[in-house]
Amino acid sequence: MHLSGSLSSWTTCLSVLSALSATFAPAVAVKEHDFKKCHQSGFCARNRAFADHALAASSWESPYNLLADAGSFKDGQYHGVILKTINDAGETVRLPITISFLESGTARVTVDEEKRQKGDIELRHNSKARKERYNEAEKWVIVGGLALDKQAKVEHEDKTQLAVKYGPSSRFEAVIRFSPFGIDFKRDGHSHVKLNEQGLLNVEHWRPKVEKPAEPDKEDEAAGAGNDDDESKEAGKEQPPGKEDESTWWDESFGGNTDTKPRGPESVALDISFVGYEHVFGIPSHAGPLALKQTRGGDGGYQEPYRMYNADVFEYILDSPMTLYGSIPFMQAHRKGSSVGVFWLNAAETWVDITKAKDAKNPMALGVKSNVSTRTHWMSESGLLDVFVFLGPTPQDLTARFAELTGTTAMPQEFAIGYHQCRWNYISEEDVKDVDRKMDKFKMPYDVIWLDIEYSDDKKYFLFDKHSFPNPLDMHKHLESHGRKLVTINDPHIKNVDGYPVAQELRSKGLAVRNKDGNIFDGWCWPGSSNWIDGFSPAAREWWASLFRYDKFHGTAENTFIWNDMNEPSVFNGPETTMPKDNLHHGEWEHRDVHNLYGMTFHSATYDALRSRKPGEKRRPFVLTRAFFAGSQRAAAMWTGDNQAEWGHLAASVPMVLSQGISGFPFSGADVGGFFGNPDKDLLARWYQAGAFSPFFRAHAHIDARRREPYLHGEPYTTIIAAALRLRYSLLPSWYTAFRHAHLDGSPIIKPMFYTHPSEEAGLTVDDQFFVGTTGLLVKPVVDKDKTSADVWIPDGEAYYDYFTYDVIPTAPGKNVTLDAPLDKIPVLMRGGHVFARRDVPRRSSALMKWDDYTLVVAASRDPKTPAEGDLYVDDGDSYDFEQGQYIHRRFVFDPAAKTLSSADYEGRDPAAVQEGEWMKKMRAVGVAKVVIVGAPAEWAGKKTATVESEGKTWEVQVEFTPAAKGRAAFAVVKKLGVKIGADWKVVF
Ligand code: NOJ
Repeated sequence: MHLSGSLSSWTTCLSVLSALSATFAPAVAVKEHDFKKCHQSGFCARNRAFADHALAASSWESPYNLLADAGSFKDGQYHGVILKTINDAGETVRLPITISFLESGTARVTVDEEKRQKGDIELRHNSKARKERYNEAEKWVIVGGLALDKQAKVEHEDKTQLAVKYGPSSRFEAVIRFSPFGIDFKRDGHSHVKLNEQGLLNVEHWRPKVEKPAEPDKEDEAAGAGNDDDESKEAGKEQPPGKEDESTWWDESFGGNTDTKPRGPESVALDISFVGYEHVFGIPSHAGPLALKQTRGGDGGYQEPYRMYNADVFEYILDSPMTLYGSIPFMQAHRKGSSVGVFWLNAAETWVDITKAKDAKNPMALGVKSNVSTRTHWMSESGLLDVFVFLGPTPQDLTARFAELTGTTAMPQEFAIGYHQCRWNYISEEDVKDVDRKMDKFKMPYDVIWLDIEYSDDKKYFLFDKHSFPNPLDMHKHLESHGRKLVTINDPHIKNVDGYPVAQELRSKGLAVRNKDGNIFDGWCWPGSSNWIDGFSPAAREWWASLFRYDKFHGTAENTFIWNDMNEPSVFNGPETTMPKDNLHHGEWEHRDVHNLYGMTFHSATYDALRSRKPGEKRRPFVLTRAFFAGSQRAAAMWTGDNQAEWGHLAASVPMVLSQGISGFPFSGADVGGFFGNPDKDLLARWYQAGAFSPFFRAHAHIDARRREPYLHGEPYTTIIAAALRLRYSLLPSWYTAFRHAHLDGSPIIKPMFYTHPSEEAGLTVDDQFFVGTTGLLVKPVVDKDKTSADVWIPDGEAYYDYFTYDVIPTAPGKNVTLDAPLDKIPVLMRGGHVFARRDVPRRSSALMKWDDYTLVVAASRDPKTPAEGDLYVDDGDSYDFEQGQYIHRRFVFDPAAKTLSSADYEGRDPAAVQEGEWMKKMRAVGVAKVVIVGAPAEWAGKKTATVESEGKTWEVQVEFTPAAKGRAAFAVVKKLGVKIGADWKVVF
């Protein structure tokens, strides 16, 4: 969010806003302290205090015991009851627990509260909210992988524990300890993940509020707890030992907003130890390093836990555990040769503390490396305790298992992986056409131009402003004529104004989010007074879908796609710029329970809407979302929000996008150029170079930022930026192939070193370089001012070639190599042993490249016996016909020993088994224009021809061999192969 605007309607809106809300502060004041620290969030403070108490006590015993006699195990599932002892008198609370062992080898532990399951509680303030703990996160997030492992069996049981063997070849074991309750997850007999090892399990059970005589001072504190940074007010710290701090149980205020908490305290917390793992990753989105830092001090560590509470954190600070716009509570632990992880399925506000400790049992001794374990402490404000445990052992196992549960990235529209030109705002049709023409004039390819909120009639989404956009369909036609698309923004806040049919329907049909009293919630956002669509309501989703029909959303056409912004949701006058937690959603769930899911319900409703714009039209949607949760990948791309035109933000974007990728949501990118401010030309050029290697590639700028379309900067910048754009376009076939893999198995699109080289200890924390898909392209964006070299960490002993010059890079495994990287150069290396596809004819948009021939690049392995391999996936880039087999997926193998390069169906499909549609027939015949073999064997010197075999015919082709010279590898080029991309073929050299 940024509240300073240059349009007049804008400033009017602002002044009204400021006048109406005493608590509302203009942009300059929106800073870190507008968001809670742990001590300002009652349950976080209470759980941290609980942890401090437990860890400081000489003999702490967790008060949670599994009732041995009440448990039963059947068909891969254990049902039992945990008894929580709540006072010295020995009173207990029953917490039903289910431990599910899934066919995939994933285990799931779910803890509920019996009284609340039965609705046997009373709510305060006549609240209409649900009494159960929120149990529908699964409904939104999980799409598969829940089949139980019927082979799982109890291996051992005695009075103290129960051991269950499960997973592939029964390699996994869960040792369930009864008293106190805890689980030790083992692989091959060794502990990897432990639950409640430290005894920090805490399920705040329901209790009635006991009115006490008012203590004047305390009363004031309770109402104001967390209202400022005053350390002395930290919940949990003021209490005499052994007494619970109730100051934040019944209501909490922050920034002038009071949360009425009709159910009182209800948090769930648990410690999860990763035994012998020094590094943990994931839980995006945070602006910090890929390997998560410690959060309770320590060397370079944070003081605050990582927070996940989707929020409109504009001008976010770097190197911080502060929450950002979206959350995926999936954490991975990696060490040399082993990976494990957990997924904490809870959509409420969540904090995670991370500490590391040398394992006392394995002290450092005689050259033996110390064994460090990472301990994490998860705290959520409400809902079930629901945690999935993955035992790896590889990073690929983790992403695949997570994908089984939450789904994979949707196969995108092909244009969506091209370049997107955005700013807040292109102000008129003429402006749009002008940018479009200039991009062509400067030979800069692009696919999509975007319209931010000013396209609308006074922030009434679904209505184009009649003065600036009188004929949007003409504009569409203009764009479509060279294959380009338009994206318009549609936010979840609907302007609360008479005479706007969308607003009237939202209200009259009862589809809006309600406040705690059950009335339509009214808050402030771009349009001023607004109401919010309730994405949890099936009726609201259906209605939302109807709004996007071409005959409803006038001015849109088949090449219009949608941007969902502000869906955390952003509410300018709400607590922490979002919705009050006691608001109500469909099903009477409190906003508190579902906050982190809200954004996903909204963008998935938009996704569904785009799929039903016209009966019979089956085209893939494109939706960009700012807020997200686990599962968002099935319906959207994301960007990292309102960054700044600063070098630090460019640097931060690399680990942020990597973190998205390993967390199941790889279609991600950062605003190229930086949203706020004006990048200097070098920064802009470097950002385009980095953006060209980001899965989502969009330039964007704030309304107050100077115009910065890529052709505006003069030489050498125009040439440098155009080169970055063209590089992206030439590699689109490989990017699309990487998306195919992500779609199939949940793998990241750009991959950190630990993902591709999990056995290399030193690579575990490298987060400023990455491989692209399976291409073997190793990219290290330059992210520092005036830097003209790049230190690339080399993970292995393969050959590495410079992408542009074919120079053989003198590398040593595990060492850095320094590359020259003047401003016009992106450090990109080709790793030996790979083949990847390009299209080399520069054109204006991806659509215009559709039928172009391919170039195949082979980077030969250092080892003359090791083949180079790669693949190319192609479908129509638009429809769902690929689900019916209408795609081409080839596997290329260069075998230096046999001197052959061959192409075969990637899956070994029998072509006769696929009935070819029109697209497929045409595409099969597209040719391979060129093959380049970098690192061609020296003995090919003098070779002039090669033989091609395909479709029962044999013919000769010319080979141009260039011997190695001055550090450059030998390479061979074969032009005009005469083969079809869709056919089997072989070149014999
Ligand atoms: C906030 C978004 O993060 C930004 O990208 C957008 O330009 C503004 N909202 C205006 O819609």
